Amino acid sequence: ETTETASNELHIESNDQMQYNTTELKATTGKISLMLHHTGKMEKNVMGHNLVILKPGTDIAAFATKAIDAKDTDYIPASENASIIAHTKLIGGGESDTIEFTIDEKGTYDFICSFPGHSSMMKGKLIVE
Ligand code: CU
Repeated sequence: ETTETASNELHIESNDQMQYNTTELKATTGKISLMLHHTGKMEKNVMGHNLVILKPGTDIAAFATKAIDAKDTDYIPASENASIIAHTKLIGGGESDTIEFTIDEKGTYDFICSFPGHSSMMKGKLIVE
């Protein structure tokens, strides 16, 4: 686990070992940009990654279970849209995606990769100060 100073331009990496390179991101309230990069080589149908920021109180296990059935929407379950603050697209090795979103309330927000089976290892906290 790394300790990072707050920044509203966040960068996080993911790899072929089903890992993010950090479990903690820090930002301040307002507009935030986040880049997810996949440093691996595997294709997204076998080792795809995304990053989904969830609203406080979301049951991660229940969300991940719903995501398994959402292959057509890259594992973003439409039924759970109300629990999602923002998400990247699903990417494979060598790819990256940058998203922009706004968080106005200080707090701690869970993030996960919703690719089937990944959220138990690929999860962390976005701390907004
Ligand atoms: Cu993943």
